[in-house]
Amino acid sequence: MLIPPQNTPTSTTRIAAVIGDPVGHSLSPRLHNAGFEALGLDWMYVACHVPHGRGAEAVEDMRRKGFDGLSVTMPHKAAVAAAVDDLSPTAAKLGVVNCVRREGDRLIGENTDGIGFLDGLRAQTDKDVDGLRVVIIGAGGAARSVALTLAENGSTVGVCNRTHASAQELVELIGGASSVVQQEAISDAELVINATPLGMNENDPLPFGIDLLRADQCVVDLIYDPRKTRLLLEAESRGLAVLNGLGMLLYQAGEQFRLWTGLEPPIHAMADAIGVTL
Ligand SMILES: NC(=O)c1ccc[n+]([C@@H]2O[C@H](COP(=O)([O-])OP(=O)(O)OC[C@H]3O[C@@H](n4cnc5c(N)ncnc54)[C@H](OP(=O)(O)O)[C@@H]3O)[C@@H](O)[C@H]2O)c1
Repeated sequence: MLIPPQNTPTSTTRIAAVIGDPVGHSLSPRLHNAGFEALGLDWMYVACHVPHGRGAEAVEDMRRKGFDGLSVTMPHKAAVAAAVDDLSPTAAKLGVVNCVRREGDRLIGENTDGIGFLDGLRAQTDKDVDGLRVVIIGAGGAARSVALTLAENGSTVGVCNRTHASAQELVELIGGASSVVQQEAISDAELVINATPLGMNENDPLPFGIDLLRADQCVVDLIYDPRKTRLLLEAESRGLAVLNGLGMLLYQAGEQFRLWTGLEPPIHAMADAIGVTL
């Protein structure tokens, strides 16, 4: 009889997956498999290329094949929100999910991006977000999750976006002490967040006028590839505290791990897997 080597998946192995298009660049398999291994769990995590327009089918596959967790990335976040049985209050407010969990036979859509940002910020800085003056550049999916969580935790959020109507829509969504602002408001912020893709490519312009920054501020770029965008390099050379998007990536995965397994995520093992020092 052939004896399978240790760690070979069997019929009892629980499976989680990330769906996206593209998905080959995803760091999620590294993060979650490191977490499962650190706790000795009989779980495995795979990346599945699901073409644009087929997110709802992937949810039905999850249901039929008995997957225990799904991470959802672009472009499926809204389609999956519409296909699950129920949504968490945050996912319902945002209208997009980045995670699906099982509750008996029901599939529940969650959104862990905002809490991931907050947990990452708390782990990597001494910032208390209650009462913090924040300006966020961008009003897309990432900006919406982060702005909502910050506003719910007492921050005053200014939204600055290329398209005014999207900034206005975001401010209406998050309510509280939030407003649409112009770039000049950056000078008065304590925390400045780039939530646009500007900086992913070497020749991209900076997302805002760099001379608006002051040395006592903190700048977070949600981009993590490259690990230091031109914005972060410029801000650092002016003496500002800077963070990239790896903290958010790590902690949003940690929250997903917690939702699926019910266990405290082994965050240091997960951080090691993507080269983050906490
Ligand atoms: N660290 C993490 O875990 C994490 C998670 C999610 C996303 N991200 C990163 O966050 C960034 C945004 O992602 P997303 O999903 O929010 O994208 P998205 O939904 O497409 O939103 C993009 C936002 O950037 C603005 N924008 C795009 N191109 C611009 C340009 N040339 N000039 C000025 N503004 C521009 C858009 O403005 P308009 O409204 O005018 O189009 C929009 O507000 C990406 O770099 C992504 O990699 C990181």
